[in-house]
Amino acid sequence: MSSAMRAIEHDVKDVSLAPQGKKRIEWAEREMPVLRLIRERFGAEQPLKGVRLVACAHITTETANLARALQAGGADSLLIASNPLSTQDDVAASLVSDCGIPVFAIKGETTETFRRHVRTALDFEPDIIIDDGSDVVATLIKEQPDRAKKIIGSTEETTTGIVRLEAMLKAGVLGFPSIAVNNAQTKHLFDNRYGTGQSTLDGIIRATNILLAGRTLVVIGYGWCGKGLALRARGMGANVVVTEIDPIKAVDRRGCINRRYFRDRHRQPSRDRRRALRQNERRRDRRQQRSLRSGTESGCVARVVWRANPRQAFRRRI
Ligand SMILES: NC(=O)c1ccc[n+]([C@@H]2O[C@H](COP(=O)([O-])OP(=O)(O)OC[C@H]3O[C@@H](n4cnc5c(N)ncnc54)[C@H](O)[C@@H]3O)[C@@H](O)[C@H]2O)c1
Repeated sequence: MSSAMRAIEHDVKDVSLAPQGKKRIEWAEREMPVLRLIRERFGAEQPLKGVRLVACAHITTETANLARALQAGGADSLLIASNPLSTQDDVAASLVSDCGIPVFAIKGETTETFRRHVRTALDFEPDIIIDDGSDVVATLIKEQPDRAKKIIGSTEETTTGIVRLEAMLKAGVLGFPSIAVNNAQTKHLFDNRYGTGQSTLDGIIRATNILLAGRTLVVIGYGWCGKGLALRARGMGANVVVTEIDPIKAVDRRGCINRRYFRDRHRQPSRDRRRALRQNERRRDRRQQRSLRSGTESGCVARVVWRANPRQAFRRRI
């Protein structure tokens, strides 16, 4: 047990996981050059010296690097998990053991444990709150309104959190500024569209071990996350169906995801065009059969499927 760890309170699964977590944090850092530069600058300038900071976020390697940057800037930080399912226990252990940062996060923690962690975070008396879903800010305003007056400000990461903040603003109870990180275009693109689009599919595949090609996948809502998810699922061969209450987004979906279906359904191609399409298809068939015949072992499996189901919708969909 390191001396840094002995001095701080924490609630993590197993601190002996720290060496593995440290390696993963360092691996992630290689992909985060901007944060690395900020950490170096923070180290020299100490802009957060004396600031007490609570971060309620996904306790993952990326957040660990953020926490290290904040620590380098002089902040006194405490971390809790915003989502019980994304916590990486080895990363939490490393933050406690190697960085001396108090972390309260256990993968799979119950709602009751999460609420206890939120209260622990508020007892830390933060000046700044980094929130993800507005749970810390909402609890603070509801249970400790006097302490809320001392908050310098907060940041909010996610769409749901912004909705809750707007409701608090409307009710006149949000007494400090909050930066809607979620409203940044880069956040929408990298987190909601590309990040969530990829990680949702990753989660489904890991949990179910199914092949997406040929499956029907229903995406509810064609917003930032829905778009990313739908496009990626389509790229992996799934038959994607989107439900959407906003008529403009619904039309957008029809145009983007299923452009060929939309076109073919509403426009009859000319005779020449039909002939050209048939020729193209025959050429593509021949090319694909040639490549499958000369293929590897997996190519051989595919060839059997090909012969058994010539020109069928499944192949077309892939
Ligand atoms: N877990 C994560 O890491 C993570 C990351 C980003 C966003 N999120 C969450 O994902 C959700 C979506 O985020 P977003 O940025 O895509 O939001 P968004 O506002 O861009 O999209 C939501 C879409 O859902 C549609 N919608 C609302 N009610 C509907 C209904 N009943 N049926 C069909 N469609 C409906 C809306 O019209 C809108 O187009 C939010 O709850 C957000 O907090 C989670």
